[in-house]
Amino acid sequence: MDALRFGVVGCGGRGASVAHLMTQLSGVELIAVCDVDESRARKVGEQLNVLYFRNFDDMLAETEIDAVYVATAVEHHFSIARRAILDGKHVLLEKMMTTSAAEAWELVRLAQVRGICGAISYQLRFYPVFQKWRELGQEVQPLLIISSRNPGIMPPNYLRPEPWAGIIDFLTHDLDLVLWVAGKEPESVFATVTRNAVTETEAIDTLCATLEFGDFTGLVYGSMGGWGMPSVHAIMGQKGNARIVSNGVEINKWLPTPSGTYERVNDVVSTEILRADTTDRMLQHFSAWVQGETDAQPLATFEDGLRVMLVHEAIWMSWQSGQTVHLEDIRRKLEKASFSP
Ligand SMILES: NC(=O)c1ccc[n+]([C@@H]2O[C@H](COP(=O)([O-])OP(=O)(O)OC[C@H]3O[C@@H](n4cnc5c(N)ncnc54)[C@H](O)[C@@H]3O)[C@@H](O)[C@H]2O)c1
Repeated sequence: MDALRFGVVGCGGRGASVAHLMTQLSGVELIAVCDVDESRARKVGEQLNVLYFRNFDDMLAETEIDAVYVATAVEHHFSIARRAILDGKHVLLEKMMTTSAAEAWELVRLAQVRGICGAISYQLRFYPVFQKWRELGQEVQPLLIISSRNPGIMPPNYLRPEPWAGIIDFLTHDLDLVLWVAGKEPESVFATVTRNAVTETEAIDTLCATLEFGDFTGLVYGSMGGWGMPSVHAIMGQKGNARIVSNGVEINKWLPTPSGTYERVNDVVSTEILRADTTDRMLQHFSAWVQGETDAQPLATFEDGLRVMLVHEAIWMSWQSGQTVHLEDIRRKLEKASFSP
């Protein structure tokens, strides 16, 4: 496999660390970095001995890159990804994909028309324990899929009032995990949200979202005030339960006995436990996928990113209206929107 040549856009906390990672991995090559804050671009460029730019168009014009990794704040994802696709570059976008389902929809269609590979950096999918949880969860035929994490108070650049900031920026991973296990889009969403309950910053600090899939339900919740509370990744199913524990996935089943009673069976399927982030695995997988050497799974493609954005949009609408929101209604509006590739 050739190394996929990357340009990184955004040299803040996340972009700088992924740029460093790219220089240590096989299968990817860092060519250049870019940040509107030139001092940040220069710092990373000089540290890693690669070209650096203040302007994204200049990076596109002056370097030979195959792909762009975008790690700016969410507000800029759409315009940068759109520009990159129109220039024929593959795109790995940080989460969440965009600020609206309409923007995500446009990127999906543009990438399809232009033959571009697009993915979202939902790297939790690359942890062996999440992969095993999903596999076993599907076997037990889910009735309820729960994903809950409590980040504590988020860093200052996330404490903003936008509906994609605050704890939403963190729990977007959990929404993706539930959709990934479910293997389909929910029919409807009901959500409750708070601001100023934990911090006084206007940032969303608590979310509880119920995703109705028809034959089962998803539940995603978390609070900035819940620091210290356990993360919960649990699937209760018709054929048993699967939940993540410290060394793998615990499976509980009721098995019928010849005497007509039920016996409780319990097992832990241990998995490789990674303390490090799995962004390295995701980057290498993206490179192999772009080069036609592997399927997209477990990578979150632009289509997966759009599904999460539909749920985010439904969460915002449900929060405003206090009502259950049907995703079909959002999709119908998107399909009517004009599009010029
Ligand atoms: N996948 C993960 O686990 C994970 C972890 C942390 C952050 N993130 C995501 O990464 C993204 C960045 O987060 P961060 O904490 O590094 O933010 P940050 O604010 O520290 O950095 C963003 C950088 O982008 C630059 N920028 C803004 N507009 C630009 C443009 N048009 N062209 C070039 N540069 C531009 C800013 O100057 C800034 O340096 C967000 O989308 C966030 O959700 C993902």
